[in-house]
Amino acid sequence: TGAFTFDPGFTSTASCESKITYIDGDQGILLHRGYPIEQLAEQSSFMEVAYLLLHGELPSGQELDKFTYTISRHTMLHEQLATFYRGFRRDAHPMAIMCGVVGALSAFYHDSTDITDPHQRMVASHRLIAKMPTIAAMAYKYSIGQPFLYPDNSLSYTGNFLRMTFGVPAEDYVVDPVIERAMDRIFILHADHEQNASTSTVRLAGSSGANPFACIAAGIACLWGPAHGGANEAALNMLREIGTVDRIPEYIARAKDKNDPFRLMGFGHRVYKNYDPRAKVMQKTANEVLEKLGVDDPIFDVARELEQIALKDDYFVEKKLYPNVDFYSGVILSAIGFPTSMFTVLFALARTTGWVAQWNEMISDPDQKIGRPRQLYTGATQRDYVPVGKR
Ligand code: CMC
Repeated sequence: TGAFTFDPGFTSTASCESKITYIDGDQGILLHRGYPIEQLAEQSSFMEVAYLLLHGELPSGQELDKFTYTISRHTMLHEQLATFYRGFRRDAHPMAIMCGVVGALSAFYHDSTDITDPHQRMVASHRLIAKMPTIAAMAYKYSIGQPFLYPDNSLSYTGNFLRMTFGVPAEDYVVDPVIERAMDRIFILHADHEQNASTSTVRLAGSSGANPFACIAAGIACLWGPAHGGANEAALNMLREIGTVDRIPEYIARAKDKNDPFRLMGFGHRVYKNYDPRAKVMQKTANEVLEKLGVDDPIFDVARELEQIALKDDYFVEKKLYPNVDFYSGVILSAIGFPTSMFTVLFALARTTGWVAQWNEMISDPDQKIGRPRQLYTGATQRDYVPVGKR
């Protein structure tokens, strides 16, 4: 029946009104609350961007201090959650742990689950933003068999995360300002991206009035896939597999071959048909970080050369396929010392700010309804049940 539009993959359906993020895919423009991503990445901080996404305006100095303080007051996890981690196998993918632990927050923080109360919604949002670094660092520590580190609120949001990840109780951990700045910038670049798959998932889950922590866990599950947030892990694995510049043509040929499911990971985007503006900042950051850390990683040469070759190739030009945010992020994260399995976790950490901002916007919209897409039914027509003995 033709009462509704058939739009698989929602390529031309706007599911909501939003004031948070604007994308012009043809021009390669990304604005958060009107501010260009390039300016935010260069001049702002992740805490400031989190505030901007949530509240709609850049904070005054005092508002930023208060927000940063509030977030720092929520960085600890309920002690019993440490026990929860120990139920996972050591070799569990950290994203599997993230899905579980963030979902489990809903079993702990009952005083921030009344979604009709704006104050409780804000407390849930602060808790999620504040606890993600702790949860992510603990997922990493658990996988390598090192003790969990408690947060240190004298450090910045990002500095604290780096210390919880790479520090050990036996030694003082000194946060390297170059790494701290690069990490903060990576977080900014991943903070929000309007109605992508995981954000739409959070909105859809939230539209039923579900527990906020459970909604974010749903977003994390969606982000995990290689077509979405999992692409940063897949991109770096691909670059390592290619290994040397001379093997690039072989992989380009595979990406173009219709009979080969292989795709260039970190390439292409549903919305950007010119260039992903985040990828530009990411490439610049990769240059700076590798130079400052004195890292000479051949995969960076492979990445740059692969980009050059693809950008000149008819297939990629015609299909408007360009590097996306995930193409260069892995090179930086790897130089900082993260294993590939943590890449998508870092994406989830940063995107939590966008998720909670979008969730709040949706819940406070008086016209908000439960998300309920329809379908085109293509199954069997009505038929009579046949008992098992007669089939
Ligand atoms: N390598 C080779 N061919 C590609 C690629 C690629 N990376 N991406 C798209 N194509 C081809 C695809 O085969 C299709 O060809 P045809 O029209 O002949 O069938 C055409 O380009 C359009 O692709 P699509 O899959 O219909 O486009 P989409 O908008 O549904 O998918 C995408 C977008 C990002 C899922 C896709 O480009 C892709 O799989 N890229 C690799 C994974 C990736 O890097 N994902 C990260 C996206 S950005 C960050 C994030 O969202 O987390």
